Amino acid sequence: MGTIPFSRPRATPARRASSTSTALHFYQNKQLEAYASKETKRLTLRQLVFFGRSMTPERLLTSANYVRTELPVRIAHRIRDLQALPYVVVTQEGIARVYELYWEAFRKYPPITTLEENNAFCKFLAGLLNDHATVIPLLSLGLSLSSPYLPPDALDAFMKRMLVSRISRRVLAEHHIALTNNFNGHRLYARDPHVGVIFTGLNVARSVEHCAKLLRRRPNEGGWPEVRVDGHTGTSFAYIGEHLEYVVFELLKNSMRATIETHQHTRHLPPIHATIVAGDHDVGIRISDQGGGLLTPTTRVSSPADLFSFSHVRNGVRLESERIGALRSLSASEHGVRATTAEQRSDTGDDVEDKADPERRGGVGPHPRIGIGLPMSKIFATYFGGSLDMVSLDGWGTDVYLRLPKLGTNLEGIEV
Ligand code: COI
Repeated sequence: MGTIPFSRPRATPARRASSTSTALHFYQNKQLEAYASKETKRLTLRQLVFFGRSMTPERLLTSANYVRTELPVRIAHRIRDLQALPYVVVTQEGIARVYELYWEAFRKYPPITTLEENNAFCKFLAGLLNDHATVIPLLSLGLSLSSPYLPPDALDAFMKRMLVSRISRRVLAEHHIALTNNFNGHRLYARDPHVGVIFTGLNVARSVEHCAKLLRRRPNEGGWPEVRVDGHTGTSFAYIGEHLEYVVFELLKNSMRATIETHQHTRHLPPIHATIVAGDHDVGIRISDQGGGLLTPTTRVSSPADLFSFSHVRNGVRLESERIGALRSLSASEHGVRATTAEQRSDTGDDVEDKADPERRGGVGPHPRIGIGLPMSKIFATYFGGSLDMVSLDGWGTDVYLRLPKLGTNLEGIEV
C-alpha cells in the first residue's frame, strides 16, 4: 500500500524508556506538529456537488489527492487535542482506544496517480471508516467516566470539536468513495439523484416518512404513535441524506418514547406532527409531540440546553453505571461491528436501504442507550450552518425546530 511511515505511540504508559523509543517518539511528534500546524481546507456542500457533477479521471485523482492530504491534517489536530487532556483522562479505556485509532489513521499515503491506485486508496479509506465505527460511543462513554477530571464546559467543547471533525473526515472519505463508485459505473442509490454522498433532490417528506416507518417497525406491545407529515410536503433540496435522516430519526424516536410514556395508561396515543416549510434560504422542519414536555417526573430535565450537552447527557448514578456496562459490552463487540460506508451502499435498492439504521448510516452506531442522540443531532444540524432548537410546553409536549440551509454555501463548521 505504499509508504506508511508513522506508527502510533502506545496510549498506555507501559513503554519502557529507551533511546530508540525516544527517537521514535520525537520523530512521530515532529510529523504530527508539521500536520497540526496546517489549516484545514474547508469546503461547502455546493463545492462538493459542483466538483463531483461531471467526473473525469483527472478530477477523480484530484479528489483522491485532496482527501489523501487533508485527512492527516484533520486527524493531527484532534490527536493534539487528545494529548492536551489530563493524563488520567487520556489513559481511560475508551479514550485510549480512540487515541490509538487516530494514530493508526494518521498516515502519509503516497500520491495517487492512476485509477488503479485510486481504487486501492478507496479500499484503504473504507477500512478506516469501518475501524472507526465505534469512535463515538467509545469517546462518549469514556468521557463520562472521566467527568470528575474535566469541567463540564471543557468536556463539552472537546467532544464537540472531536465530533465535528469526525463528521468532516467521514464526509470527505465517503464522498470520495461514492464518486469513485459512480465513476466505476456502480449505481449508489436507487431512489434519488445524487452526486457522491449528496442527494441533489432530497425529498424531505419522504425522509421523515422513511424514519417514521423504521421506528414504527420496531416491536412495541402498545403500538407506536402515528407521524403525520404536513406543510410544504413537496420540498426537496441538496443535502446529505444520512445527516438529515439521523437527526429526524433521533427526534422522532424521542417524541415517540415521550408520547408512549405520557399516555401509557390511556388507549389513545396522540399523533406526532412533522411540519415541513421551504423558505428562500432554509428548509424548516417542526416536530411537535404531546409527550408531556421536557420537565416530567422521569426526565427531570430543567432546560433544553442540558439535552444538547455531552456533559449533562442524563443525570444520576444510575446513568453512570449503565454507561460502564455499555462501554464494557461495546469494547467486547468492537471488532464485530461494521459501519455502513459509501462502499457498502453500492447498488442499494429501497429494501437494502431500509435495513440500515439511520444511526449506523450516520456513522454513529452502534448506539447503546447512552443519551448521545440529541447532542449528536445538534452537531449534524449545525455542521453546514443549520440549527436545532427545542421548546417545551411542560405538562403538554415538545416542539423541536430543525433548520437546514438550502443553498449549500456555508463552509463546513470545523474550527481548524
Ligand atoms: C472517523 O470515523 O473517526 C475517521 O476519522 C474516519 C476517517 C479516518 C476516514
